[in-house]
Amino acid sequence: MASIHQRGDVIVSVGSKSNERGDAGPIRVSRRARRFGSITRQRLSIWLLLIGAVFFMYMTFFSVKVHFHGEKEDGMSSFFSIPKGGPQSYNITQYNRSTKGKVDHGMLSFFGVPKRGVDSNVSQRRRSPKHYPCDIDLEKSIEYILEPKDYLNFTRFELDYVEKEEESLTTSPYELKFAGHQTLEARERSFHAINQSLHCGFVKGPNGMGSTGFDLDEKDQKFMKSCIVVVSSCIFGSSDFLRRPTSKLISEYSKTHVCFVMFLDEETLQKLFSEGNVPDDRGFMGLWRIVVVKNLPFEDMRRTGKVPKLLAHRLFPSSRYSIWLDSKMRLNTDPLLILEYFLWRTKSEYSISKHYDRQCVWDEVLQNKRLNKYDPTAIDEQFKFYQSDGLTKFNASNPHTPLPSYVPEGSLIIRAHTPMSNLFSCLWFNEVDRFTSRDQLSFAYTYLKLKRTNPDRPFFLNMFKDCERRALVKLFRHREGPSPPTPP
Ligand SMILES: *[C@@H]1O[C@H](CO)[C@@H](O)[C@H](O)[C@H]1NC(C)=O
Ligand SMILES: *[C@@H]1O[C@H](CO)[C@@H](O)[C@H](O)[C@H]1NC(C)=O
Ligand SMILES: *[C@@H]1O[C@H](CO)[C@@H](O)[C@H](O)[C@H]1NC(C)=O
Ligand SMILES: *[C@@H]1O[C@H](CO)[C@@H](O)[C@H](O)[C@H]1NC(C)=O
Ligand SMILES: *[C@@H]1O[C@H](CO)[C@@H](O)[C@H](O)[C@H]1NC(C)=O
Ligand SMILES: *[C@@H]1O[C@H](CO)[C@@H](O)[C@H](O)[C@H]1NC(C)=O
Repeated sequence: MASIHQRGDVIVSVGSKSNERGDAGPIRVSRRARRFGSITRQRLSIWLLLIGAVFFMYMTFFSVKVHFHGEKEDGMSSFFSIPKGGPQSYNITQYNRSTKGKVDHGMLSFFGVPKRGVDSNVSQRRRSPKHYPCDIDLEKSIEYILEPKDYLNFTRFELDYVEKEEESLTTSPYELKFAGHQTLEARERSFHAINQSLHCGFVKGPNGMGSTGFDLDEKDQKFMKSCIVVVSSCIFGSSDFLRRPTSKLISEYSKTHVCFVMFLDEETLQKLFSEGNVPDDRGFMGLWRIVVVKNLPFEDMRRTGKVPKLLAHRLFPSSRYSIWLDSKMRLNTDPLLILEYFLWRTKSEYSISKHYDRQCVWDEVLQNKRLNKYDPTAIDEQFKFYQSDGLTKFNASNPHTPLPSYVPEGSLIIRAHTPMSNLFSCLWFNEVDRFTSRDQLSFAYTYLKLKRTNPDRPFFLNMFKDCERRALVKLFRHREGPSPPTPP
């Protein structure tokens, strides 16, 4: 496997931020001087001196501390030897960092990376006492990371996808279905982690029957085929504003080597047009490459949204990594730092955050019904089916509980496109197609059944804390107004 990038491609600029800091003191003082006219010029300059001295002492102390920190440590060797168990169990004081560029490194940790966790904790707490971002120990710059070779001893097998269905398989008249007509027997077989051909969306009808939806322009398909690392999101049914990734927090390397793709339907594109958002000649709005989806496969916009959310490996056939981002979030972190922290460092092939509140599917079912998220009869039907096929309550006191939570918060998913990860994504999508489009209801069932079916074939899934998700993005509310249609 070739590495995604060579070290040394990126230079992080420090200067501009330090100027901001340096200016801050005097400006505040001179404002005060105007308000309280009694402060004389002489006093003012003493104040200036004092503040300067304090700032200087603070800086000195800080850099020295970081400097020592750097000197104790020895190189990259321990970088990938972090114990398994996910970032939750990860203890920063045990971390041996690279000694490369000691002083620069210290400056970077002061200026280069905003301490989002600490800062936003204060403001977040005022709004909601419970949900705040936490400080996460991302690498300081993508300069310090490389895609590890064989970081995973992942389960190997070959997946093939059903491309076209035979008419004889179903009752006539044949109904075009994006996910195809999978029988329960085929569904059962598909959980085996072996060489197989399974349904995974994008199924064409029998000869002459045309597309089952999610039609893309050829130029877009060609572009998507070239992507190795993908960040993608979607807005269908004008349910959100367009949130562009924060350009100044994304490295130049990622800007040129990572595909940022936003899927829109035509309605949403028109709405964005009318608000003055127009793609440039190359089809970009900010960092987002806009890809318009025609002939949406489902009436339920949320279910349509599950296509890019769960099937990135199908949409981007050459890609090795993907990051899914719900459109209510603005990306504030370099995608390569995200891959390093959530996949490479934890030795995972699939990373998704835990729900901020609920761990048990039973609670999730209640909540979905209470908030009328979906037709309750359909929820019951799905839930009954899952219970009859082995879904049990989440038991936090059982040390052998296979997952830290049975309820995910799926607005951020980080994936390596390995066979197990691809299989899990297809299986999960098929559940969303067969039952309700509430994917939180089918996540744990799908994972547990996959694990149960393949006891000797590991799947490295990492569930991280919700506060870590919040540290990477800025969260917004969905667009107000009529919500997209939800069928019964
Ligand atoms: C991290 O490790 C240090 C030293 O082993 C220990 O003193 C500290 O309590 C640990 N912190 C956490 C949060 O586990
Ligand atoms: C960090 O490196 C030092 C020096 O090689 C070593 O003694 C120490 O055990 C390392 N710490 C960890 C947590 O690996
Ligand atoms: C944020 O605030 C919470 C609750 O007050 C606290 O438990 C947590 O440690 C804080 N996190 C940071 C990074 O300061
Ligand atoms: C990789 O995994 C297989 C089976 O899961 C095992 O037999 C093999 O020894 C592992 N290799 C390494 C290098 O860990
Ligand atoms: C699965 O497919 C791969 C590649 O085509 C092949 O090398 C391997 O032998 C197959 N495994 C089985 C069990 O058929
Ligand atoms: C949860 O797990 C613990 C430890 O295995 C067990 O003693 C307890 O009975 C379990 N609770 C339920 C409700 O299954």
